Amino acid sequence: MTIYFIGAGPGAADLLTLRGRDILARCPVCLYAGSLVAPEILAHCPLDARIVDTAPLSLDAIIAEMQKATAAGQDVARLHSGDLSIWSAVGEQTRRLDALGIAYTITPGVPAFAAASAALRRELTLPEVAQSVVLTRTSGRASAMPETETLAAFAAARATMAIHLSIHALQRVVAELTPFYGADCPIALVYRASWPDERIVRGTLATIEALAGEAPMERTALILVGEALAAEDFRESALYDAGYDRRFRPTGAGR
Ligand SMILES: C[S@@+](CC[C@H](N)C(=O)[O-])C[C@H]1O[C@@H](n2cnc3c(N)ncnc32)[C@H](O)[C@@H]1O
Repeated sequence: MTIYFIGAGPGAADLLTLRGRDILARCPVCLYAGSLVAPEILAHCPLDARIVDTAPLSLDAIIAEMQKATAAGQDVARLHSGDLSIWSAVGEQTRRLDALGIAYTITPGVPAFAAASAALRRELTLPEVAQSVVLTRTSGRASAMPETETLAAFAAARATMAIHLSIHALQRVVAELTPFYGADCPIALVYRASWPDERIVRGTLATIEALAGEAPMERTALILVGEALAAEDFRESALYDAGYDRRFRPTGAGR
């Protein structure tokens, strides 16, 4: 028997992968992580599936559910929002499963930063403007940040930043980033990307607090910062340049 961890995507039910959907449809037990998983996604479970919201459960209780199901010969679909590679709490679950000898697989999902980029209709990496995306957060009640992972340390590179779990700390984020990016740097707040109530506020580091104050966002929002959010005069990528000798589109020059 297997625990199938599945990234449920950022919210919209049709951003679940086909693999995730098919696994859900064949598992008699589904554990899902609270309100960030759309009810339409749970509709892929078999009609008689046991469906458990794990939001109020402790890690011990979640693992007990997994043990109970696998001991009874049942596979388990375990849904988390977004992708599982970041802030999913999968690591602590798989460590317990390894110790218990319970098999598991991981199916990726669309992460929130990708959904936010799509909502903004902006590529986060642009030639010569930004070639890296920093996925980070500020410290919270559940997790402190490692000492070296400060906003200032990341900001020094002036890459595009996607700051999670931090909308409540917007003022501090702005204060810490401004010395590195400059007050005119574009910033966007994306609330519930891909959900029906998705909302976007765009501004600069100088203006964003006042703009956000007009309609405050809570919890499920991302802060994106960097010149790539608004740059228009960037160089075109060499990849599609007529003179660029690609393996499958040789220019013929020198042959
Ligand atoms: C616990 S983390 C989960 C991240 C998730 N595993 C992922 O792959 O994106 C939750 C944070 O992700 C961001 N987030 C998740 N879903 C979002 C969405 N639909 N729109 C904007 N931000 C979202 C918010 O910053 C939220 O505080």
